[in-house]
Amino acid sequence: MSVLVMGASGAIGGAVLRGLQGRGMEVRATSRTPERLSLPGSVRTFAADAAEPASFSDALDSVDRVFLYADLPEPEALLATVAAAGVQHVVLLSSAAVTSPRAADDFNGSRILRAERAVLEAGVAHTFLRPCEFASNAARWSWSIKAEGAVPLPYPDALQTPIHDQDIADVAVIALTGDSLLGAAPILTGPERLTLREQVATIGEVLGRPLSVIEQTEAESAATLAAHLPDVWVQQILKGWREAVGGNPTLSDEYARITGRSPRTFRT
Ligand SMILES: NC(=O)c1ccc[n+]([C@@H]2O[C@H](COP(=O)([O-])OP(=O)(O)OC[C@H]3O[C@@H](n4cnc5c(N)ncnc54)[C@H](OP(=O)(O)O)[C@@H]3O)[C@@H](O)[C@H]2O)c1
Repeated sequence: MSVLVMGASGAIGGAVLRGLQGRGMEVRATSRTPERLSLPGSVRTFAADAAEPASFSDALDSVDRVFLYADLPEPEALLATVAAAGVQHVVLLSSAAVTSPRAADDFNGSRILRAERAVLEAGVAHTFLRPCEFASNAARWSWSIKAEGAVPLPYPDALQTPIHDQDIADVAVIALTGDSLLGAAPILTGPERLTLREQVATIGEVLGRPLSVIEQTEAESAATLAAHLPDVWVQQILKGWREAVGGNPTLSDEYARITGRSPRTFRT
């Protein structure tokens, strides 16, 4: 069985690719810049850009299953290309954001809902992975931790259930190598609820030096984030944090049910 991984340079895509290789699968990978990939010679690489769905045609030739990111500028056209190639199963890295009743009104929720809808309309068997906030989002704090030993945040009491990248990849690999998750849409969370303040403290404990939180106004935070991100993402991140204050996010048992193991902690 041959599996194509879109975005092998990505955090999740790369982990999925390694997991499939570990299981001895025949794996292919796409990237917009495949010359920058550093992969074992056994992995065939292809140049493909989701903004030009036809660019996936060569990579999809004789492929059985596909791992896709939901960052798809033309999801309907890309999924039509996938279906026409005879792919049997698409595993889409979706998001828990689509389960919000207001997902369709939201920039992030609506674009991922559109990708899920395109998969359904293409009529290809599917698995939608719906993770919550990635624990690795905290890597964005690395510069201020190195420079100031502190993390500036507007909503330090925002409560999350951060998930380890590898947990998402573990479930993707199970979906891509068997039929147990056909038609499933597991919500994936980490094993614990942690505020952003608690995440900063955990990083400090692991580093062996206390870190502080610098409380910012939303406008100050927007200005900081805008140095690195487009405004639409700045607004999305701020909204997510604002709405997570005083929340009580559900912890999912899907990872344990699917893999038989406990999810990795934020500390891990
Ligand atoms: N961060 C969170 O809290 C969170 C929560 C839930 C869901 N998600 C979803 O998770 C995804 C991010 O995962 P990640 O951290 O693994 O991302 P990442 O490390 O940024 O990797 C993204 C990959 O997608 C590929 N890609 C991007 N645009 C592409 C295009 N137009 N055509 C072809 N390939 C393209 C890139 O490949 P090349 O650059 O090599 O082409 C790259 O390998 C997003 O879709 C996000 O919505 C994130």
